[in-house]
Amino acid sequence: MNPETIPNQQSAELFRPRTAAPRKEKATEPFRFEGMIGDSPVMKMTLAQVTTVAPTDATVLITGETGTGKELIARAVHNLSPRRDRVFVRFNCAAIPLGLLESELFGHEKGAFTGAIARKMGRFELAHNGTLFLDEIGDIPLELQAKLLRVLQEQEFERLGSNQPQQVNVRIVAATHRDLKQMVAHGLFRSDLFFRLNIFPVSLPPLRERREDIPSLVNAFVRDCVRRMNRHVETVSDETMRALAEYSWPGNIRELQNFIERAVIMSPHTSLVAPLDSLMLPERNVSAAPKTLAQAESNFILEAIKAADWVIGGPKGAARSLGIKRTTLIGKMRKLGLSRSREAAFQPRHETAGIAPA
Ligand SMILES: Nc1ncnc2c1ncn2[C@@H]1O[C@H](COP(=O)(O)OP(=O)(O)OP(=O)(O)O)[C@@H](O)[C@H]1O
Ligand SMILES: [Mg+2]
Repeated sequence: MNPETIPNQQSAELFRPRTAAPRKEKATEPFRFEGMIGDSPVMKMTLAQVTTVAPTDATVLITGETGTGKELIARAVHNLSPRRDRVFVRFNCAAIPLGLLESELFGHEKGAFTGAIARKMGRFELAHNGTLFLDEIGDIPLELQAKLLRVLQEQEFERLGSNQPQQVNVRIVAATHRDLKQMVAHGLFRSDLFFRLNIFPVSLPPLRERREDIPSLVNAFVRDCVRRMNRHVETVSDETMRALAEYSWPGNIRELQNFIERAVIMSPHTSLVAPLDSLMLPERNVSAAPKTLAQAESNFILEAIKAADWVIGGPKGAARSLGIKRTTLIGKMRKLGLSRSREAAFQPRHETAGIAPA
């Protein structure tokens, strides 16, 4: 969608600063939209998409590298929807151990399994009439994907240990840094679930593809840190700003935010002293001197996966080159906690399949 299609008045409203903070700073107040800074053409287009889809009940699938603002977009979809006064439930599919995922999502009855000492509501029930944000949806194991598809399609599910269907009214927003299409191609993600989620895709560009936003972000983050930490930084030199705008920011906005916080803490006077040397990160040497057998195995597997460009199965996949079955490799990756996100802080991420720790 073209950002120009937003009516002018609405557009002005969208990008009007929300907070009327006292203007002590030298830099001008950047455009902010639902906590997001950035008025590069590509960001405006993304925000226009959000404004269009938010008032509907459509499922939104947000994709983008780590730290690009997927969670902020998910919250914006909720805040701009008629459900804004209802609950927003965030569920990180990658953070819950495999065995607990199903009961966390769908709930369970007392006695459904060992340790189920009382009935428990799952996230779908908790999000009733509101929005359920399924973060890291690419990490949902295949075994659970069919059940998830059913609840997305029919808004109906059963708690574990019950055959009584529960009806819910939940708006789904999902996010992932993974390439779900590629996961579908490798048999790691159900195509029907992908199509059900991909009704309205929103793709967040990495920061290096919207460098125009870097000065506004830097100024805003400096200001936020100064306020929070009671520091005295007021200006950022042109030279520093140029260096920051040229860096590739593999960890995207989160990395920039953390870098600025460190810089503000280190700056004794009113001009930002940025540790620019620390931006020239050496490539992490993952195979350096393993100390345990598990570490050595992890390094070896990681090297093979990287050599296969994170393709797991198939004739060119890492499983074939390691001489093991695809499912065995996936199991090992889960056990060893190998996923592409581990590398995010060091290297630019190109979307591929990867498995989070179980
Ligand atoms: N456009 C933006 N303006 C200001 N701050 C932003 C913007 N986008 C992201 N941030 C900040 O960057 C950090 C990372 O954002 P967020 O958690 O939404 O990213 P993410 O894509 O969900 O990352 P991950 O894939 O690692 O979960 C947060 O602190 C967020 O407030
Ligand atoms: Mg996130």
